[in-house]
This record gives sequence, structure tokens and C-alpha cells, in this order.
Amino acid sequence: MKDLHSHFLPNVDDGAKSEEMTLLMLKSALDHGVTDILFTPHYIVDSRFEKTKEENRAIFEKMKNVAKFMGINVYYGNEVYCSAEILSLYKEGKIATLNNSRYMLIEIPMNTKMHNVKEIFFELLSHGIVPILAHPERYTAYYEDYNFFYDLRKMGVLMQLNFPSLVGFYGRQAEKMAKMLLKYNLISFVGSDLHSNRDEKYEKMEKAKNIIVKIVGEVNAKEIMENNFLRVIYNQEI
Ligand SMILES: [Fe+2]
Repeated sequence: MKDLHSHFLPNVDDGAKSEEMTLLMLKSALDHGVTDILFTPHYIVDSRFEKTKEENRAIFEKMKNVAKFMGINVYYGNEVYCSAEILSLYKEGKIATLNNSRYMLIEIPMNTKMHNVKEIFFELLSHGIVPILAHPERYTAYYEDYNFFYDLRKMGVLMQLNFPSLVGFYGRQAEKMAKMLLKYNLISFVGSDLHSNRDEKYEKMEKAKNIIVKIVGEVNAKEIMENNFLRVIYNQEI
């Protein structure tokens, strides 16, 4: 599996708290056969999570080299918190797309509806940036609101599932949503959203993989777990 969403970079957001912790997380990835990981630290405007790619460059390069030595490819991006300022933040070079591609990982508020999500995504799409909605199964405000996700998909927005949702990591609602979104072909990627070596998410990967294969079949599962990740890395169309 290739992991599109994670918080491995030490001391930049609420993810890894030290370089030692990053190493333990990488060891867990290696032990469970994860070959490629996008490091996607939070960028939340007007919060304590506003480090730019430039500010994170030195620590990212260091961790990337360690990962490479272990046999894991890592790449940089942000998990950007949705706001009307995304486009200007991007133009100012403050937020990063995934590996400098056209694809941007974006989260929306967890428990409340944001009235202008579609307008913001539309604006990005019209400027050539393809939003990837992080963990659609986790937004309680949109529980069972399949029309919302269909509308986004029709606009050209892609979606990334947190695979631990499939085995109940975030509760029964998220598990149900995860399975339904897969069933309706709305998911293009998976990620761990790993924040700590104590999360024990990769331990759930094998079971999650089997569920994905069972719902979408072998061929589509490979697209979701491997091929679409590479298309992002090489900035190819999906
Ligand atoms: Fe995240």
C-alpha cells in the first residue's frame, strides 16, 4: 500500500513529537509493507499549524534520507484546512500541493457544515488545482449525505479514505460511511492519517485491504491503494 496522508514530520503539527517517534513510525510502515508515504503536515490558517514547505525543508530532507535508507520513498505535501484563502495562500507559496503536483489534500470542518465548500473547490479547479478531500467518511455533519459527495465527485474533486475507518478505528458511523463510499466508487486513494507510533494503524492495514478488495474488486483496489498514488506523484491525470 502507498500512504497518501500522514503526519510523520516531527514537531511541525500534532503528529510525530520527535525524530525518534518518526523513526518508530517509519519502522512500522516498513514492517507492514508500506513502500511510499506522502508526509502531509497540517496547514491551518491563523493557527499554530502554519509552517511552510520552506520552513519544513531541512527536517523533511533529513527524514526523507533516513526513509530512503530504510527502503521507503517519502514525498512532501500539506493537509490544508479548507478556507476561502486557499488560492491566495497557494499563490504566496505558503501551502504545498502533493509533491508539487496539481493535487491538493484538503480537509473540511469535522462536525459542522461549511457553506462555501463547493465554491472554494470550484475556484481551485478552475485554477488547475484538483482538491483531494481527506477522509470523507469522518465528517459527522455529512453522515449519509451521499449527494454531497456525489456532487463533489461530479465537479472533479477526488477523495481519500483513512483505511483504519474500515475496521472501526473511528467508530461505527465512519466505518459504515467508508464502506458505502467505496461501494459507490467515490474513493480514489487511501491513507493512514498516522500521527504517532502509538496509533497502531498499519497493524489494521491487512484487514482493511481485504475489505477494500471485497467491496471494489482486485483491479480497482490496486488503483486505489497503489496506482492513483503514483499518478499524483508524477502529476498525471486521474
Ligand atoms: Fe490528517
